[in-house]
Amino acid sequence: MKRIFICILAFACVGLMGQTKPIKYVGPKKCRVCHNKAEKGAQYKIWESKAHARSLKTLLSGEAKAIATKQGLNTVPEESPECLRCHVTGWGAAGGYRLDVDPTNARAVKTNQALASVGCEACHGPGNAYKSKKTMIQLRAGELTGAAIGFTKIDEATCAACHNSESPTYKPFAFAVRVKEIAHPYPE
Ligand code: HEC
Ligand code: HEC
Ligand code: HEC
Ligand code: HEC
Repeated sequence: MKRIFICILAFACVGLMGQTKPIKYVGPKKCRVCHNKAEKGAQYKIWESKAHARSLKTLLSGEAKAIATKQGLNTVPEESPECLRCHVTGWGAAGGYRLDVDPTNARAVKTNQALASVGCEACHGPGNAYKSKKTMIQLRAGELTGAAIGFTKIDEATCAACHNSESPTYKPFAFAVRVKEIAHPYPE
């Protein structure tokens, strides 16, 4: 009884009732802490070396500007939802990359910056609720299913959300081939 009462009063409700944490994006650097050791496959380093890590910078290029002009956009590509929706992490999703961050809120600016690429979470799902070591090991062992904690099971549709003919530079997307180009497995 007392416990329910406290719950009604306080935000601690979530914790006391044993529910999961809110699902939020955290950015690749939070994954790097555990996923950058050579003997474990250095997933962060591999990701950082590929185009997904530079996807917002690409929107600053002359080529990008030319595409935007051709499409009749009134804003530069890096400030256009028409481009950002595939060139950042979590566009349009709660806690994802956005343009209207309060510039005086240093923490919000930093989090937003961390989502300024096609980061780990663009494919694996927002990481806040699954990134603890215990949870990750349970996921790996198949003792937990990911959906309730934001962890995505990746398939062709995950990629096709962005690799589709609505992209102005679309190249036909063969999943089996392209997935090898971004592979970052654990060593055998
Ligand atoms: C506190 C350390 C830690 C952090 C932070 C962390 N991971 Fe993990 N992750 C692990 C461990 C441990 C495993 C299990 C395999 C192993 O032993 O390396 C794992 C496994 C995984 C797997 C494989 C799961 C499977 O089903 O095979 C993926 C994918 C993954 N992590 C992605 C991420 C992403 C994305 C982030 C950032 C949002 C992240 N991890 C943050 C420790 C971590
Ligand atoms: C959130 C949107 C998004 C998702 C999801 C996504 N991609 Fe991409 N991908 C991009 C963008 C944007 C680029 C171009 C980046 C650039 O050139 O700046 C790209 C580039 C690539 C490239 C070229 C890499 C290189 O270094 O030249 C490959 C390969 C690729 N993606 C494979 C995949 C695969 C496989 C998946 C799914 C497992 C996937 N992508 C999911 C947006 C996405
Ligand atoms: C539907 C998702 C999507 C949208 C919307 C999108 N892009 Fe992209 N963009 C991609 C993907 C995916 C790639 C990687 C090309 C590939 O390998 O298929 C890419 C690559 C690029 C490249 C690198 C050139 C290349 O051939 O790889 C430029 C430049 C670019 N996009 C500019 C833009 C601009 C400017 C806009 C807005 C007018 C935009 N994109 C909107 C998904 C998108
Ligand atoms: C473009 C999509 C994409 C991005 C971005 C991405 N991954 Fe993955 N990741 C995959 C795919 C596809 C696999 C293959 C296994 C699967 O289906 O989960 C994978 C597998 C993994 C695995 C398990 C490896 C194994 O051998 O089982 C880990 C760990 C992992 N990713 C971590 C990360 C981390 C950390 C980042 C960011 C630094 C990241 N990934 C970025 C698509 C992505």
